[in-house]
Amino acid sequence: MGRNEGAADEAGRSARCPGPGYQDVLDGDASPAPPLLREEAPPPDERREWPVDVYTSREHHRREVEHLWRRVWQIAGRIEDVARPGDSFVYDIADDSLIVVRTRAGALRAFHNSCLHRGTRLRDAPGCLEHIRCPFHGFTWSLEGELSEVPCRWDFPQIEDEAFRLPEARVDTWGGFVFVNLDPEAPPLADYLEDLPRHFERWPLEDRFVAARVERRVDCNWKVAVEAFIETFHIIGVHPANLPFFGDANSQYDVWPERRHYDRMLNASGVPSPHVRGDLSPQRIIDIAARFGMVEPGTTIPAGSTPRAVMVEASRKRLEQDLGLDTRPFSDAEVQDVIQYSLFPNVVLFGGLGSPLFYRARPDGDDPGSCLFEVMLLLPVARGAEKPPPAARRFLEEHEAWSDVPELSYFGPVLDEDQAIMPRVQRGLRASRKPTVSLGVYQESRLRHFRRTLDAYVPPVDPPDQP
Ligand code: FES
Ligand SMILES: [Fe+2]
Repeated sequence: MGRNEGAADEAGRSARCPGPGYQDVLDGDASPAPPLLREEAPPPDERREWPVDVYTSREHHRREVEHLWRRVWQIAGRIEDVARPGDSFVYDIADDSLIVVRTRAGALRAFHNSCLHRGTRLRDAPGCLEHIRCPFHGFTWSLEGELSEVPCRWDFPQIEDEAFRLPEARVDTWGGFVFVNLDPEAPPLADYLEDLPRHFERWPLEDRFVAARVERRVDCNWKVAVEAFIETFHIIGVHPANLPFFGDANSQYDVWPERRHYDRMLNASGVPSPHVRGDLSPQRIIDIAARFGMVEPGTTIPAGSTPRAVMVEASRKRLEQDLGLDTRPFSDAEVQDVIQYSLFPNVVLFGGLGSPLFYRARPDGDDPGSCLFEVMLLLPVARGAEKPPPAARRFLEEHEAWSDVPELSYFGPVLDEDQAIMPRVQRGLRASRKPTVSLGVYQESRLRHFRRTLDAYVPPVDPPDQP
C-alpha cells in the first residue's frame, strides 16, 4: 500500500490513487530529490459540482473580462522580446490590447493600444520603435507615452498635451517573463505570486532561453485548454502509448492551503503506469521508450538496474550532449520527471529539466468558444555560455500540427493528441444537458482549486445545487 490511499484521512485530505505514490518512486532513486520535491500538500476532500456555462456563455465571458482579465497579473511575453531600447510587442487579451515597450531609459511600459484621436489600434506587430505613431492620421507619442506630434495641430485647440498621454497598464517581471496588470489598484506582482518564487529557486526560468515558441487558435474556451494540461488522469484516454513509461496514477497533486494562485503536480517518468495490465518486462519498457526517443535504440537494461535508472542516465547524456549541461547538481527526479505548476489564471510552468515547457491559454477576442494557445520550449543554458537569441514566434494555421514543428521534438505528437480532444470537449459542453461537470476529488483537485480561485474573482450568478 502507498501513502494516503483509500478514503479521505482524518484531516479531510482527499484519497489518492491506489498503488505506489510519487514519493514512493523517489525513495528508489539513486540521486535523491531536493526537499521541495519531498513536500506534500494533499488537496482538500472537496466534492462540489462545477457549472458548465462558464465555458460556453458569452455573458460569463464578459464578466471574466471585467472581473478577471482586467484585474489579474498575467504573462504578456518574455523579457527577451523587449531586450533593447525601442523593442516592443503587442499583447491582446480578449478585446483589450497593450503595447509593451522598452523605453530609451531602459524601463518597461505597457500602453493601451488605442489611438486617443479616433481610436485606431496603434500597433499590430512587434518591432523596434523610435516612437508610437498612429497609422491613420499620424498622431505620435514618445516611448514614454508623451504626446509628441499632432498633424495640423491648429485644428485641435482643445487638446492639452498632458491629458493626451497614452494610458498605461502596470508592468513587472519575474522568471524572465513580462507581466502586465490592467488594474491600477491591484496589489503588486510579488504579492500575487505568493511564494511561488521559492519553488523556482533551483530552476531559475529567467536563465532559460526560448528554443521554440508556437501559438495556435484552438476551438475551445481558454479554461478547457488550461484544464487539459493540469491532470494526468487523461493519459489513459488521450496518450495511452505513454503508459508503459509514465506513472500517471502515481502522480502527486499539491494544493497548499492559503495559496490561491498556484498549485503543483509531480509525475514520475520511467515507471510504468499502474493502469498497464499484464506484466511488462523492464527490457520491454526500455524498448518502448526507445521508440519515443527517450533512450537510444538498442539500449539494454543492465542486471539489477531499473527502467527509470536507465532512462535517467539517457536523459543526463542527452542534456550533456545537446546543451552542454552538467546535470550532476540535479537529482534524478529533476532530470526525468514532469514538475508542473499552474499560475492562475492561464499559465502552466515547469520546473526541473524533464519537461522544460511553458503553456499559456487566453481568450481569442470576444469568443468564449475559441482561445489562443501558446507553447514555449524554455531550455537551460550551459554554464558560462551566452544565451542564444529567442526563437521566432510561429503561428500554426488550422491545417498545421504541433508535430510539424521539429524544435518541439517528442512533445509535438503529444500536443497533437491534446489538441484533438480540446475542441471535442467544447462541443460536448455546448451539447450537454447536465448543468455541471463532475470532477475527481484527487486527480482533478487542481481543476477544483482553479475553479475556486476563479469563483473568487468572478462570483457565480447562479451556483449549481450541490449533492
Ligand atoms: S485615429 Fe489615430 S491619428 Fe487619427
Ligand atoms: Fe495531455
